[in-house]
Amino acid sequence: MLISTFTFAQGVITGSKHDFKAALWNTGGQICITCHTPHNAIAATGAPLWNHTLTAATFTLYTNLISSTFNATTTQPGGTSKLCLSCHDGTVDLDAFIGKAGALSGKITGPALLGINLSTHHPVSFAYNTALASSDGGLKDPSVTPAVAAMLFANNVECASCHDAHNNGPVGTKLLRATNAASALCLTCHIK
Ligand code: HEC
Ligand code: HEC
Ligand code: HEC
Ligand code: HEC
Repeated sequence: MLISTFTFAQGVITGSKHDFKAALWNTGGQICITCHTPHNAIAATGAPLWNHTLTAATFTLYTNLISSTFNATTTQPGGTSKLCLSCHDGTVDLDAFIGKAGALSGKITGPALLGINLSTHHPVSFAYNTALASSDGGLKDPSVTPAVAAMLFANNVECASCHDAHNNGPVGTKLLRATNAASALCLTCHIK
């Protein structure tokens, strides 16, 4: 759960961009099933009862060759970010779930397509700890800032640090966990 000082109306997955019950390619008309299954899930670290075929892409990472002030060490996306990228990198069909090859939907297009070059996106899949905060000098220390610690997954920054796939954040934002009005989301972690 995100510990936040903000007050705002909470959203739900129903009716959000992740509600695919009416999608022609989701013939069963359920919501959770495109991503989760109660049984015989895909076993992968950080994957809660996962049901969607995982991406096999090799990603171009955000590194200090891209930005010399970047202190962290990114790895190929694992954990929750790999789950997101299994639709959002545009390499896997949206309807590749329950072990189906996928055939009806095609791949993601439009603004929600991130691609496999992650060097042009906020870095993910790296450890954010006290050592990183002190080497960077402009970051809050997660060990003493519960609001930051609550956004990390196994101490890592991942896509789901900022987003909630279930839209349980402020209504009307891009599935964000907290409002980014006046860049409040960014300022949860960055001291700027
Ligand atoms: C578009 C994909 C997607 C859909 C649809 C989806 N989820 Fe998730 N879910 C995720 C991802 C990704 C995670 C892991 C990241 C996280 O924990 O936020 C997750 C995590 C979870 C978790 C464990 C973490 C937590 O938030 O408690 C539960 C429980 C869960 N989902 C339940 C559901 C249920 C119930 C539905 C249907 C009403 C659903 N999800 C629909 C993608 C999805
Ligand atoms: C089953 C495939 C699938 C998975 C898994 C998935 N998404 Fe999506 N997501 C989509 C599609 C398709 C859209 C675009 C829907 C549209 O434009 O109508 C979308 C839209 C979005 C949007 C835009 C929302 C808006 O209001 O414009 C965000 C943000 C997003 N996804 C983030 C994530 C994150 C973060 C994860 C992992 C925690 C994730 N998604 C996992 C398929 C997926
Ligand atoms: C550090 C925070 C942060 C991280 C990490 C992050 N995002 Fe986002 N993302 C945002 C914000 C803020 C927006 C909304 C931008 C705006 O207002 O248009 C956004 C927008 C999006 C959109 C909607 C794009 C559009 O124009 O409709 C998608 C899809 C998305 N993110 C997916 C992802 C995925 C997948 C990951 C992981 C690879 C990820 N995000 C990681 C903060 C983040
Ligand atoms: C969950 C905490 C968190 C949130 C929220 C967050 N960031 Fe970050 N961000 C980080 C960390 C940690 C780094 C890695 C810094 C480093 O290693 O130098 C980073 C890196 C960056 C970088 C690259 C820094 C460099 O030196 O190359 C930029 C720019 C950035 N964030 C901007 C943003 C913006 C804009 C937002 C809001 C949309 C945002 N961040 C939200 C934690 C966060």
